[in-house]
Amino acid sequence: MKTIISLLDSAFRAAIDAATGLHADPLITPATNERFGDYQSNAAMSLAKQIPAAQGGKINPRELAQRIVEKLDLGPMASEVSIAGPGFINVRLSPAWLAAQLASVASDPRLGVERAASPVRVVIDYSGPNVAKQMHVGHLRSTVIGDALSRIIEFFGHEVIRQNHLGDWGTQFGMLIAHLREIGLGADAHIADLETFYREAKERFDSDPAFQDKARHTVVRLQSGEPEELAAWQRIVEETRLHYQPLYERLGVLLRREHERGESFYNPLLGPAVEDLRAKGIAVESEGAVVVFVEGYDTPLIVQKSGGGYLYATTDLAAIRFRVSELGARRIIYTHDVRQSQHFAMVFAVARRAGWADGVELDFAPFGAMLGEDGRPFKTRSGDTVKLKDLLDEAEERAFVIVSEKNPELPEPQRRAIARAAGIGAVKYADLAKDRVGDYVFSWDRMLALDGNTAPYMQYACARIKSIVRKAGGDTGNPTAISLDTPHEQVLARQILRLGEVLAVVERELKPHHLCGWLYDLATRFSAFYENCPVLISDGPLRAGRLALCALTARALELGLDLLGIEHPDQM
Ligand code: ARG
Repeated sequence: MKTIISLLDSAFRAAIDAATGLHADPLITPATNERFGDYQSNAAMSLAKQIPAAQGGKINPRELAQRIVEKLDLGPMASEVSIAGPGFINVRLSPAWLAAQLASVASDPRLGVERAASPVRVVIDYSGPNVAKQMHVGHLRSTVIGDALSRIIEFFGHEVIRQNHLGDWGTQFGMLIAHLREIGLGADAHIADLETFYREAKERFDSDPAFQDKARHTVVRLQSGEPEELAAWQRIVEETRLHYQPLYERLGVLLRREHERGESFYNPLLGPAVEDLRAKGIAVESEGAVVVFVEGYDTPLIVQKSGGGYLYATTDLAAIRFRVSELGARRIIYTHDVRQSQHFAMVFAVARRAGWADGVELDFAPFGAMLGEDGRPFKTRSGDTVKLKDLLDEAEERAFVIVSEKNPELPEPQRRAIARAAGIGAVKYADLAKDRVGDYVFSWDRMLALDGNTAPYMQYACARIKSIVRKAGGDTGNPTAISLDTPHEQVLARQILRLGEVLAVVERELKPHHLCGWLYDLATRFSAFYENCPVLISDGPLRAGRLALCALTARALELGLDLLGIEHPDQM
């Protein structure tokens, strides 16, 4: 179905046109105060200033609102249209119309959310861990937000290509391989050892000129594809993969081996990219390096160092070129730390000037830092960065304690399974539920709380409705019997039907927190409905209609959680 907001938009546009001759955005939003209606148009105030003199010149906005309402034809959709304050036009949706909409989306697994009219290919660049290092909380944010966005964009019918831009190339491998050549990398060495070796190699590199030479020599051999160095590098990459792949699976994110396209992949494309920039007069030589001056920035973007080496930015430039010309992307989305804003802004500007991204939308969707409850960067007690694995272990452990307190009678394996869903869900949801732009404060107590805008609350709401349906003997009611007699039923119905418009905002702004807000409102509205409207003890069509409302709410909650990549166990 068309979203309610778009139906209102068309009707108001026509009315504004008929009343004023102006083609204007009616500025439809959900009502700020539900006492006055469900949606409102905020256009009359600004439009009043634009009325030409021929039509009587400046007109009072309330009067203009009145004229618009006279021309407004909402058919059976609205039960009441009223004007408030300086000229807000409020619309209350008709319960009969809402009930009919619900009955029609009930048979649709998408709950009426329309697919994009013209699907495009979208590349989403997220996660991007660095080889020979453990994933840390910064990668958590990128991974969780990027994964939710990729699911939502895919749901609209776009073709999403996930790209995991691994930090798997660079001069650091010279020192690491040179160091390992001397100390040997045992067959059972894993990521923590690699991290230690990496630190050791760095210390030697910084203090020992002879070792520096060896390291540089090793990079050159690696870059020219010498079998020994290549094999060592592959082993290091594989060891790192063995570390992060299980974390992805545990987090329930969709990144797999086939989505990996690390920095190393672009190695052969770097020279040609720089050449193209030079040929187009975009890149110039400066102090021996090759750089691009970008308007608005004091320092240029370096694309090739004076020694000939390439940089992080060169790789990202080559990646854009590849993603557009080879992968056919029409939109490329990056979810990474806000501290990379300047990097991406400059890279996008250069790619555009080079004509590598004509007609392609380039979106950087940054996120802020993860802070501890003391408001300082999230660290372990000893001041180290928090390893993702430890964080997930703790989440499950804490959730297990809570689940065991609540359901001591359940067998342990089941409590563990619930704790896994609740603990991992809590970590992901806490991240997704906050506007990604700001920093966010990581608080175990808040994210694991069974009330508030949290995963456990949402999972609990889902499980509770399923238990109602179980108590009804599996009867999911009859959607055509939904009658929406009370305001509680009406707001619940409207909330279910808003999913499409909320997802459209998420897709446009690349902010999953709007979906979390919708889920939370849905769950609280369901609670109010269930407390005030008897379901199981009602009879006949009333019971059938209310049970259908319960079942639809459960499906809406599940769909919302699925789109965020959050599990919803049958029992909590
Ligand atoms: N490896 C980078 C880091 O850990 C993230 C990669 C981001 N993606 C990109 N195309 N630059 O910060």
